[in-house]
Amino acid sequence: HRNKLPPDKDNSASSNEYFNKALQHRHNNYKTDNLRVLGVDELGFVPPCDISGRECVSALHRAKTETCKQIIANISCLIKTNPPYPKRLPHQCPTNDVKQNKIIGCFRDGKEIKLLPGYKTSLIFTNSQENCIDLCLQSGFAYAGVEYGTDCFCGNETPEWGLKLPDTFCDMQCPGNLSQMCGGHYTINVFKTGVSKFIAKIASEPSPNFKHNNIPPVRIVFLLTLNGRAVRQVYRLIKALFHRDHYFFIHVDARHDYMFRELSKIELTLSNVRLSRRRHSTIWGGASLLTTLMDAMSDLVQSSWDWDFVINLSESDFPIKSNDALVKFLTVNRKHNFVKSHGREVQQFIQKQGLDKTFVECEARMWRVGEKELPKGIIWDGGSDWLALSRPFVDYLVAGDTLISGLSQFFKYTLLPAESFFHTVLRNSPFCETYIDNNLHVTNWKRWLGCKCQYRHVVDWCGCSPNVFRYDDWNRIKNTEKKQVYFARKFEPIINLSIIDTLEVWLYGEYPADFKNRMSYWQNLYHYDDVYPAPDESLLIVGNSLARVATKYLTTSHTTCQIRTLDKLLQVFTYHHKDKFKGFLIQYEVSFSNNSNKLLFESWCWPKLQGIIILNKDPINRLLNFIVSSDFDKKEQMSRNFIRLIGPYTEPVLIHQWAAGEHSFTVTFLWLNPYDELINVTSTNIEESALITFGKPTLPMPLSQGIWTVLLVYENVTMAYTQFLVTPLHTIRDTSIPASQMSIINKPQNYRQSFEDWTNVIKVFKNSIVLETKNKFIDRTKTKMTSWVDSLITSAYNILETCIVIPCKSLNDCGLKELVTCAETSWSSYSPDPKSDIKSINKESGTLN
Ligand code: UDX
Repeated sequence: HRNKLPPDKDNSASSNEYFNKALQHRHNNYKTDNLRVLGVDELGFVPPCDISGRECVSALHRAKTETCKQIIANISCLIKTNPPYPKRLPHQCPTNDVKQNKIIGCFRDGKEIKLLPGYKTSLIFTNSQENCIDLCLQSGFAYAGVEYGTDCFCGNETPEWGLKLPDTFCDMQCPGNLSQMCGGHYTINVFKTGVSKFIAKIASEPSPNFKHNNIPPVRIVFLLTLNGRAVRQVYRLIKALFHRDHYFFIHVDARHDYMFRELSKIELTLSNVRLSRRRHSTIWGGASLLTTLMDAMSDLVQSSWDWDFVINLSESDFPIKSNDALVKFLTVNRKHNFVKSHGREVQQFIQKQGLDKTFVECEARMWRVGEKELPKGIIWDGGSDWLALSRPFVDYLVAGDTLISGLSQFFKYTLLPAESFFHTVLRNSPFCETYIDNNLHVTNWKRWLGCKCQYRHVVDWCGCSPNVFRYDDWNRIKNTEKKQVYFARKFEPIINLSIIDTLEVWLYGEYPADFKNRMSYWQNLYHYDDVYPAPDESLLIVGNSLARVATKYLTTSHTTCQIRTLDKLLQVFTYHHKDKFKGFLIQYEVSFSNNSNKLLFESWCWPKLQGIIILNKDPINRLLNFIVSSDFDKKEQMSRNFIRLIGPYTEPVLIHQWAAGEHSFTVTFLWLNPYDELINVTSTNIEESALITFGKPTLPMPLSQGIWTVLLVYENVTMAYTQFLVTPLHTIRDTSIPASQMSIINKPQNYRQSFEDWTNVIKVFKNSIVLETKNKFIDRTKTKMTSWVDSLITSAYNILETCIVIPCKSLNDCGLKELVTCAETSWSSYSPDPKSDIKSINKESGTLN
């Protein structure tokens, strides 16, 4: 069997069992404890109806603000008693479904066939010499809400169900597009599919010798929905897609100031780039994402921009074909609309996607509050929310009719609405004939990693996400060369930059030999202008402390220099080179007593507390990495907290990575606080296979400030240890930590040790290794506190180098001239980064220089 479902452990189950299990998982895997009907006293308002449903009561318990509680109560009551959307909607598609399986005959461009489940059916395709056609068989991609598979067979196998492909396609990947057939006659056998409808669709592709002649090439709007701080990657994406004939309409999540501010800079210089001012907090899977897309489409229809297609993309998409190829393809398919369907039985899709559940969005969360009935009379469809929609269809969406307004109302209360709204409108609208089952994307689904309920903190549902492409996945992208896919997702340069580099070289040819910093990437983590998201308190403490220490060092190492004081921490970046985290950069402003100038410096810092192996004997010699951090990303199997900032209220995670070995064995971790008290003991079995694993111990919060130690014990001997700093905080969100809690985090807590068994192991360890724990802080006057904080932080972080942003002549005599200029270093955020630089438009090519 080729291209079966990925090796998911549930895959052995029959498809129904698998489906039911997955569904159960989605339904149950979020918190619904403390179930008890809430009284008016607790709610603070009288709900419009009796609220007794388990999910709604749970949501009301968990919501924090009264406004959100009220919205939840109101919507729940409304959906129960008088749903705010129509019970029936019009089906306006003129095509009648094919009701029987039979040999369908010859196909022409854009013709769609539908088959009921049944038996062997031959689809015979012929096409003319001028056009090539691409057969897009509906197949089993996984989307955020669904996990499906389709089997394809080649050669002599006789499948019981699935698709038997002609030998010409045996090297093609399935599911997906079955690539080009240029002028000829082909037969595909569809065996019993087990689906209620099997849909095939043909999109036309220009023959290699096709000429545009008088047909004007399409103009595309790239609609970018962005979040996060990967600004340099977004610049790179815009550079790759840019042409003066195309447009960029950008929405930035309302909670992401930095991305918005940085992109505003290019909006000023490029007239075909515009940022949406109607900003929403577009949480994952939220109803707000559909609102955002519809707002954008309405703005685009009303704008003076002259465009033919809109293609939505995110910060983690990247093109895998040239713009020319995309334009050529869309030009010959200008009447079509490209969406990717789930390829499964509709009822299963509805359930798996949770379309029949009511969700309410508030407090940047999708709360599940009960069931809802789907409007009748229409065909339901959905799949991927990455789309390429034609201008006439977008005009129709914006103008609206009963179908669109009814579905818009319905999808206001639906999870992942953008994954079904457009498909369903398209299928039931006068545009149904223009539906092409292809989202033009290759998506890196690895469901065994990507379906781990990782969005539980924002949705009451277990959703899936595709993985980030890494260099090892290159063949997946390369194999799409002959397929009608133009984008791939996901890419994240902090995780893997080499795949983006390889892809760009593949698309545009080799870089010039003197191209600077090709394999380096900088990502901002803090900017002093940010209001949202609120900066991490620990980052501010660490950044300010290191800037203070660096400033002091400048003063002492440049003796004539009269540096007065550190004025301000300006920015923090993480720095990555050749796909490795190489430390972080703090940028700060310093003033001088003999000069009114303020100078900018950047220092390169490194979190130095790593795992240390004491006895490198079997089986501990399998240990590759042993650190404490937080924000462990189960999908990508790494901590996103590169700097390893842990405050008194952070949940630390112990991450350990092992090479493969011959035996499994058990190790024990002992967690010692800065006062050497044993706080937690956990044991883990290490299997034979190579693995990255993580453990979250239950530690009493707030954590004692200072340096903690974790011992790795094997057969009663400490074989390795690692340390981590709990950053000293005296304020949280500008509010002083209450004195009672301060005493907990600043003093030994006299834990009654119920772990006596380990006393000896710890004693032996303490006798053999001298650890500097710097926990003896007693005096809390401001200066003493600051020097204690600085001494703690320098135990956990090193300053590797410092540079000056703009060398200032008048300060030559104070010794600073010896300091290297930031732009001349390879590590500074001021070092040239031409792959992300957006300069002027090239007059000849229309692309960016
Ligand atoms: C998957 C599917 O590919 C996608 O079709 C579906 O909408 C969500 O699940 P995933 O990688 O999980 O994608 O989501 P991601 O790309 O991270 O986010 C989807 C969109 O929402 C992006 O445009 C992203 O920028 C935006 N988003 C996400 C926000 O604006 N804010 C957030 O906090 C999270």
